[in-house]
Amino acid sequence: MKYQVKNLKSYFNIQDKAINNPEKFWKKIAKEFSWQTKWNQVLDYDMHKAEIKWFDGGELNMSENCIDRHLKLRGDKTAIIFEPNDPKEKEQHISYKQLHEEVSKMANILKGQGVEKGDRVCVYLPMIPELAYTVLACARIGAIHSVVFAGFSANALSSRINDSSCKLVVTADGSYRGDKQIDLKSIVDKALTNCNTVKSVVLVKRTGQKLDFQHGRDLWYHDLKKEVDDHCDPVIVKSEDPLFILYTSGSTGKPKGMVHTTAGYMVYSAYTFKNVFQYEEEDVYWCTADIGWITGHSYIIYGPLLNGATTVMFEGVPSYPNYNRFWEIVEKYGVNQFYTAPTAIRSLAKQDVKFVEQHDLSSLKVLGTVGEPINEEAWNWYYNHVGKEKCPIVDTWWQTETGGIMISPIPFSTPTKATYATFPLPGVQPALMDADGKELEGRLVKGSLCIKFPWPGIARTIWGNHQRYINTYFKQYPGMYFTGDGALRDPAGYYRITGRVDDVIIVSGHNLGTAPIENAINEHSKVAECAIVGYPHEVKGNALYGFITLKKDCSESEQDQLKKEINVLIADSIGPIARLSRIQFSDGLPKTRSGKIMRRILRKIAAGELNDLGDISTLLNPDCVEEIIKNRQ
Ligand code: WT7
Repeated sequence: MKYQVKNLKSYFNIQDKAINNPEKFWKKIAKEFSWQTKWNQVLDYDMHKAEIKWFDGGELNMSENCIDRHLKLRGDKTAIIFEPNDPKEKEQHISYKQLHEEVSKMANILKGQGVEKGDRVCVYLPMIPELAYTVLACARIGAIHSVVFAGFSANALSSRINDSSCKLVVTADGSYRGDKQIDLKSIVDKALTNCNTVKSVVLVKRTGQKLDFQHGRDLWYHDLKKEVDDHCDPVIVKSEDPLFILYTSGSTGKPKGMVHTTAGYMVYSAYTFKNVFQYEEEDVYWCTADIGWITGHSYIIYGPLLNGATTVMFEGVPSYPNYNRFWEIVEKYGVNQFYTAPTAIRSLAKQDVKFVEQHDLSSLKVLGTVGEPINEEAWNWYYNHVGKEKCPIVDTWWQTETGGIMISPIPFSTPTKATYATFPLPGVQPALMDADGKELEGRLVKGSLCIKFPWPGIARTIWGNHQRYINTYFKQYPGMYFTGDGALRDPAGYYRITGRVDDVIIVSGHNLGTAPIENAINEHSKVAECAIVGYPHEVKGNALYGFITLKKDCSESEQDQLKKEINVLIADSIGPIARLSRIQFSDGLPKTRSGKIMRRILRKIAAGELNDLGDISTLLNPDCVEEIIKNRQ
């Protein structure tokens, strides 16, 4: 690929080119893909109106670029290795040729159900090959996929289906996760009682469990598959036609359906994959994320397949049947690049190191981390025990909204430094802003992280609400994209991401907004009001602490019951990942004179930083703070 970084000097060189002439830079990379019609303009943008177009006028098909383009040279090469949850179940090696057939069949199934270009398809599947087939099949016919992580509740699923009026849902009877079996189909049934746009449900058989089959709506995938052709011509779409919607939590309101379009996302996910992982033709690459998150979209499916790579898809969890699992898989397939999240690293680092040492990990070349700041201890453990001090760690900072990695070391080029995401990738122009909206120049500064110039992978809008897109990302610092993160720049120019500066809390790498959790709690008839904050947690990074006031006093045993009910409400409304680790009932919550809950104080109390509460004398009700401290959980 053009502009591949090979050493630090070439990084600086390439970054200069990308900044001095972005259009020329991205155009040269874009030329390596397959286009039906060439673009007439590389970039057109207005950062105030948040209108960004890349490769406008171009026409192409994403699945053709991921699959068909490789058939001649790599037809028999393995595209996807599927490793099931249960190590006793046989794995699958799916070649590019087979992938082409499977995706074509799935595309024909969708077409057969009336799905057309531009229609939305909701994908609620476990990490099985059919998930990849469905995503690529949507891309093949120009339909817009909306993958919903199969750990979300029925409520969360139905609100996402309704927000983008999906026509069809692809799901499975059930899923396996460690020793658990999850009844996906009944979650979908429950969700669909509130959705009237869904005409059909395509059901993949995974667990074989009993289910309530609704004739006229539900269809078995294996039945439909028998009747369709294994050829399907790709539908040509425009560069700026949406490829997918992916929902992400905001600090307020309902989840935001981030819209990614076709050409820019393609170029960006492919270029960043190649450089950040330094993928070579024979390598086996493994990202442990779920395809329900952006990491899975960009770095299990699109980035790797666009590069003709072999990508591992793992259905299970790191702890099942025991904590050997990840290392056993690395050894089994000779994984060369391994990409996971700090929360997984921390939970593995807590186990006996023999789990790692029992396995031959000598195939590893590059280790990656993503999703939240990685602490120094976890970084060192990863570097020493997994990488044996030989594999650079790429601490990759990015977001659902950015489409691809933005700040990361380039392995073998950028010297790594624990907890630092280091340099922006070529074409990325970060800025640190102070509270007055001024850019902080120079080194050794700390501020809010913005991006000054468009890159091809940036989300184009929030589905159905462009104004919200502008307000959330382009208003605070006019002319720039605001990330919601804080960061610092060290004397070498390296960036370190310090964490969110808004009310989003990252728990085990999952982005959770406080508002939807608070709304769920407020549904309880006994709750008067509540505030959710994050506090540091050894494994999860952050855990959730709820401060709740009740309408009426309760006995201790009633309180225990209430805590359970509150967590059930949260699990039903969002999903089990949003459950509170600690709940404290109190008579009041600290408020400003204008009645706003002072979360800053609650955050300090939850973290145990009791000597550092700041001035509380200006509060409306300073007395409640003492009571809260006394009863701290
Ligand atoms: C938020 C985005 C991008 C894939 C997974 C998460 C945090 C992400 C890092 C990192 C420190 C990180 C940020 C960001 N984050 N990567 N390497 N170091 N923080 O995607 O759910 O959209 O979350 O994750 O706070 O804003 P997401």
